[in-house]
Amino acid sequence: MGNLAANDVSRHELVEETGAAIAAAGFAALPAAQAATLFGATPAGADWQDFAGSWAALEPDRHMADGGRYRLRRHAVFALKAGEAALARAPDQPHYQERAFNQLNGGIERWFAPVTPAVSAGPALQALLAGARAVFDQLAPGADWHVEMHQFRIQARALEAGKPTPEGMHRDGVDYVLVAMVGRQNVAGGVTGIRVDGQPGEQSFTLETPMDSVLLDDRRVWHGVTPIAPLDPALPGHRDVLVLTFRRA
Ligand SMILES: [Fe+2]
Repeated sequence: MGNLAANDVSRHELVEETGAAIAAAGFAALPAAQAATLFGATPAGADWQDFAGSWAALEPDRHMADGGRYRLRRHAVFALKAGEAALARAPDQPHYQERAFNQLNGGIERWFAPVTPAVSAGPALQALLAGARAVFDQLAPGADWHVEMHQFRIQARALEAGKPTPEGMHRDGVDYVLVAMVGRQNVAGGVTGIRVDGQPGEQSFTLETPMDSVLLDDRRVWHGVTPIAPLDPALPGHRDVLVLTFRRA
């Protein structure tokens, strides 16, 4: 995966390059090594291990209109003020998508279990937020951001495929989105598809290893992820991702 040149670049250059790729192509797919530079963090570090470990304590999503029980999650909101470095968490609030953006689960206020304070204030999440913000600030200088954080675990069982995006190809209804792979265990499938308004066809890649990331312009880019099934049907599998959505406040 990756539509950026895989040369050795500094974080500053990578922020600029990623912003330019999104402006030109609608999205930027960063393999883990590049994402590590952008976020100033490594999946091998203790901070990331703690962060990834928190996916083991997500709670069931009780708002699945298809009756699915394969999705676990936690949610948090951040208010980022232009010119202020603080990545401040806002009071918990429901997640809302217009039905136009989510015909399956949109049109209602959905409350999810909150992200734990240790995770939202932890170094890994703060690094991811800061990196994504640096890129999106390039595309919308001076913006205040309403950021929603979603921790997702999609479970794959032999008798029930897990659907990372049960609503199908969609836009989230925000301005920009970061999706970062946190981990895949005993999982086949889960291929990300991208469609850009005004361009023919679909591009696809798999967020495979921890920190593989995609950043996209949600105003003109559609995304979806194919269902997952366990590689070894005798064992459960799961796919863990972090999603950060940025909307101009
Ligand atoms: Fe989405």
